[in-house]
Amino acid sequence: MCGIVGAVSLRDVTPMLTESLYHLEYRGYDSCGIAIIKNGELHRIRGTKRISELQKKIQKNNLHGISGIAHTRWATHGSPNINNAHPHFSGFSSKNASIAIVHNGIIENHEVLRKNLSKIGYRFKSQTDTEVLAHLINYFYNGDILKAVQQTIQHIKGKYAIAVFCKKEPNRIVGARNGSPLVIGIGKNENFLASDNVALIPFTKKFIYLEDTEIVDLTPNNISIFNTNGIKINKKIQIEAINSDVNELGIHQHYMEKEIFEQPKIIRRLLKNIKSIHPELFGYQAPNIFEKIDSVLILGCGTSYYSGMIAKYWIESIAKIVTSVEIASEYRYRDTIPNPNTLIVIISQSGETADTLSALKHAKDLGMKNILSICNVATSSIVNASMLSYITQAGLEVSVASTKSFTSQLFSLFLLTLVLAKLKNRLTKNQENLFLTDLKCLPKSIESIFSMRKDIEKWGRYFACKKNIFLLGRGVHYPIALEGALKFKEICYIHAEAFQSSEMKHGPLALITKNTPIIIIAPKDKLIEKLKSNIQEIKVRAGELHIITDSNNFNIQKNINFLKISETCNSLSPILYGITFQLLAYQAAVFRGTHIDKPRNLAKSVTVE
Ligand code: M6R
Repeated sequence: MCGIVGAVSLRDVTPMLTESLYHLEYRGYDSCGIAIIKNGELHRIRGTKRISELQKKIQKNNLHGISGIAHTRWATHGSPNINNAHPHFSGFSSKNASIAIVHNGIIENHEVLRKNLSKIGYRFKSQTDTEVLAHLINYFYNGDILKAVQQTIQHIKGKYAIAVFCKKEPNRIVGARNGSPLVIGIGKNENFLASDNVALIPFTKKFIYLEDTEIVDLTPNNISIFNTNGIKINKKIQIEAINSDVNELGIHQHYMEKEIFEQPKIIRRLLKNIKSIHPELFGYQAPNIFEKIDSVLILGCGTSYYSGMIAKYWIESIAKIVTSVEIASEYRYRDTIPNPNTLIVIISQSGETADTLSALKHAKDLGMKNILSICNVATSSIVNASMLSYITQAGLEVSVASTKSFTSQLFSLFLLTLVLAKLKNRLTKNQENLFLTDLKCLPKSIESIFSMRKDIEKWGRYFACKKNIFLLGRGVHYPIALEGALKFKEICYIHAEAFQSSEMKHGPLALITKNTPIIIIAPKDKLIEKLKSNIQEIKVRAGELHIITDSNNFNIQKNINFLKISETCNSLSPILYGITFQLLAYQAAVFRGTHIDKPRNLAKSVTVE
């Protein structure tokens, strides 16, 4: 979490840093700040409100300078107040400060370092682990900021991406990474550093991606990169064809709304590359790797974990390969029995989720090298660490709530299912054609969900004033109930719980009262008759029922609300129910007036454990 950016230029960098912060705000928005060298002194403006407020303060204070660093924070050490906001300075008084730093990550040995630095006279103004770094760099500083950073890094444990500068070397910024992303943006007479290339797209299309333990020394006309041993290295420049208008809201009120409505377009884009089912869709090494695997282990967090849960149903029923799914943060701390013939599938929108990345490394350490990542960011750490990757091509997802990335993950996982099934001779030509037809019908079916928006809006208005909601689903639709509940929690701040409908009588039924709304996912599948019995069990206990279904065979009963979905694309029906919940939670959040795109306490990219 946290977004960092730095710029060294021959022109004023303040407007560029501010603009970049807007693009990084998705990484955390507890506080923000900027530091600039002006007239030989370090100047800093910080705030606990949004970037727009910071921008006003910058204008009011007429802050300009040719090098600077800026930060948007997701608090870990120290509450989100002004003293804990970055940049942090080191010097014995802030007026006299000579070092400024912005940091993303966690310094694990900050307590002992803080103690030692205090003993030799450093005074701390914040509770952050970052201020420890500032003082340590100051301690080692002897006229060369690069050397001071290199020495500091020898003494710290943990994860970091940092950008540092010193007032004595005003046109130089040093960056370093270990476990948190950092990209260099190459400009003309100016160079940049940022947590994400999106922050720099308005200024450059040329990037160099730093890897763990690398350090960069930037001036307006020079970029020097060093490895762990301090040896200068050459790295590839990558040109990214991203437009700077990728995160324009257009006609939409919120990014979440925009991103929900982009889904048919994204699926059409993915479909373009699929003429037939073949393993090379997952990389040229995929045929060899897929051939020898005998099981699948899927790892992810949050929504990405739920898409993995759905994939388990698909892979086991269509490809007949034993599949397990685990929350990434749990897997890495658990004793497991590694099998080198397992295909490890890592799912992540951002490709930077710390828990997921660590789980990947853990699986590798256990000797499981067949790693496929399903990821939305081609240049991310997770893709970088994987043998195979499939890029979901959902485009930049700004809203904290995953929507289009969930759908494109499911698309990719269904494709993987078909590839594995075909390779293991468990897919007839006829079945392959039928599944391909299902995939091709998806964009239109998604649009048919959008055509129900008025009805979904009415439901949203109704649920907006509820305190608790229960969501029930069975089989492959149970993870959709979990995902729907996550959306209600995340953007509506409504307590929502998901259960398998069959499990109600084993405990949760005790929670049902006259006014407990229950949303039931009722697809037309082999469990529908069982589900109808579950519904009766709840109804006689006076539960308030709301049923989402594609079946025409429900008796429309008094006191039960129905939302009828017209198309389902057979096995892909979880995608359509998932999108229905995205819209429903979104509409409820609109009526509740919450911060939909930036819900309280959350951040888009969770780069700390
Ligand atoms: O970037 P990732 O897919 O690895 O993120 C994992 C979760 O943090 C993420 O899916 C989160 O649960 C979503 N914001 C939920 O909408």
